[in-house]
Amino acid sequence: MKILLVGSGGRESAIAFKIIQNEKVSKIYVAPGNGGTALYEKCENLNITDIDELLSFAKGNNIDLTIVGPEEPLTKGIVDKFRSEGLRIFGPDKKGAELEGSKSFSKDFMRKYGVSTAEYEVFYDAEKAKAYLETCNYPIVIKADGLAAGKGVVICEELSTALDTIDLFMIQDMFKGAGKKIVIEEFLVGIEASILSITDGKTIIPFLSAKDHKQIFDGNKGPNTGGMGVVCPNPYVNDEVLKDFYNNIMNKTLVGIREEKMDFRGIIFFGIMITEKGVKLLEYNVRMGDPETQSVLTLMKTDLLELIEKSLDQKLEDTKVEWEEGYCVNVVLSSKGYPEKAYTGYEIEIDNIELNNVFIAGAKLEGDKLITTGGRVLSVVGKGKSLEEAKEVAYKIREKVNFEGAYCRKDIGTAK
Ligand code: AMP
Ligand code: GLY
Repeated sequence: MKILLVGSGGRESAIAFKIIQNEKVSKIYVAPGNGGTALYEKCENLNITDIDELLSFAKGNNIDLTIVGPEEPLTKGIVDKFRSEGLRIFGPDKKGAELEGSKSFSKDFMRKYGVSTAEYEVFYDAEKAKAYLETCNYPIVIKADGLAAGKGVVICEELSTALDTIDLFMIQDMFKGAGKKIVIEEFLVGIEASILSITDGKTIIPFLSAKDHKQIFDGNKGPNTGGMGVVCPNPYVNDEVLKDFYNNIMNKTLVGIREEKMDFRGIIFFGIMITEKGVKLLEYNVRMGDPETQSVLTLMKTDLLELIEKSLDQKLEDTKVEWEEGYCVNVVLSSKGYPEKAYTGYEIEIDNIELNNVFIAGAKLEGDKLITTGGRVLSVVGKGKSLEEAKEVAYKIREKVNFEGAYCRKDIGTAK
């Protein structure tokens, strides 16, 4: 089987690593890939990101299956395009991808299907938004409607910040269209969890829960990042939380996907908040999380490619996904200066490392050297019977990997 995998992050490294283990797979083209996918057996990086170019590559090279990692091509309709040409591709169609691509669409969907979420209002007009903000309790959350590279959510402690945010999003148009429409949302207090799942549009199967660590510094301090580490499963997701999630979020979402006639054969990721008033959905993502994937797939015993094929054939019903016992801790190493400005171009020194313990993200292969290119450079993953053991293993591996200015949080596995 020849596979085309779209994306370049640590998530794609983990997906490629998992899929090459299936003996049916002869080749994976990773577009554009990274220094890690360049090193894997059966893998070859392709310097293509444009959807039409990806399509003609898939057609011209007998690609049997395309897997899409990031949200952007999904929201641009890559799945619809490939399917209209008779190609097999894993991911939601454009309509399904709107669940991530538009915050107002996803909030209206949640309201329509009774999915438990924060109260909200949608605004198209800055003056009306400002008038509404005068009447709110604080803190309050303002979200740009469209994709804003993870920067479209602002938690406003007071009215003045909220008004400034409206100016930035709606009037100065800092996200080039993505913030012209906004959602103003009730601020929720609680503990966050990520639950990835696979669906074929008829059945939905949740994966192990995960706990991301978004802030740059220990103790969940400092600015938000793409994610500095993950614990899987999330220690706060107990049976009671899961039951609430299934009944009030996951199953209702599946009803909505069916009713709205989305062609959703892909991954749906629920970003939830465990609050005193029950579990609430913060957001949908229509792809795997990064760095969640690096931990979740590390514990997945079931063959991922088989799961993907069952989703595409709408045969997920009665499928059981098997997991390893214990925990996985994923510690992200980032470049000096991240998230404001990442200093890159340094060689990664890896001491006798096994590739299944390290997932490369922001680095390229130059000759036989890995050179840093991005903010989040790589993840080290440790497994253990207990969370403590997994943490110890991850931080031991971290000692064997270095580059100039390498930074990581020290509290992945212990932070609340
Ligand atoms: P989102 O892209 O909607 O997940 O928002 C990004 C981050 O902002 C989330 O992971 C939360 O940490 C935070 N956030 C979003 N919505 C809320 C909310 N209603 N209450 C509190 N925090 C929120
Ligand atoms: N780690 C959060 C995300 O992938 O959106």
